[in-house]
Amino acid sequence: MHHLPFTFEIALPAGVPTEYDNHITRSLSSMRGQYADQQAYDAQLAQEDVLLYEVYEICCPESSGELLNGISIVHPGAVGDEYFMTKGHFHAVLETAEVYYCLAGEGYMVMETPEGESSVAELRPGKVLYVPPRWAHRSVNTGAAADLITFFVYPGHAGHDYGSIEKQGFRKLVVARDNRPVIVDNPRWTPPEER
Ligand code: F6R
Ligand code: ZN
Repeated sequence: MHHLPFTFEIALPAGVPTEYDNHITRSLSSMRGQYADQQAYDAQLAQEDVLLYEVYEICCPESSGELLNGISIVHPGAVGDEYFMTKGHFHAVLETAEVYYCLAGEGYMVMETPEGESSVAELRPGKVLYVPPRWAHRSVNTGAAADLITFFVYPGHAGHDYGSIEKQGFRKLVVARDNRPVIVDNPRWTPPEER
């Protein structure tokens, strides 16, 4: 935890910051029910509980004046035809935003509001993405072989709500068709008023 001004560096290509407080790793087994193709998920998990993504967090007190920041690294790969991705979440304090800056790789940020409005933004090196308050967000790596590396910053008191997304996923999926990413409707998704 930092109380004085500080600096750190993010050395590419690995994207691991020179200082961090937490290193979070998420593997396939922590994504049960999140990929559309259940059969492909089970088959892949039976082979190996592969590492999907990692987060390096630079922590600060969880209060509204602070800014939590860090690095998210999504590895390349797919479950069936659906690219490796983060779990995705709303912020527990819904009215909090987040900024992402893409350092390396290629992919998309899939986003939606509690009302079911959807947006998908491309991520590539140099792109800054502003995720407004109320928008759930999930990063997806569509690269054939490279990591998708992003730097993120969000309010210290935001917290995370994973439960809402876990139920049926996002409205849109990013899948490979003829080795190219396409954005399709999630067949499991239903509008909020029908839930
Ligand atoms: C924080 C944030 C990112 C993600 C990270 C992993 O609010 O959006 O740091 O936490 O990209 O994704 P999740 O948390 O959805 O597993
Ligand atoms: Zn977030």
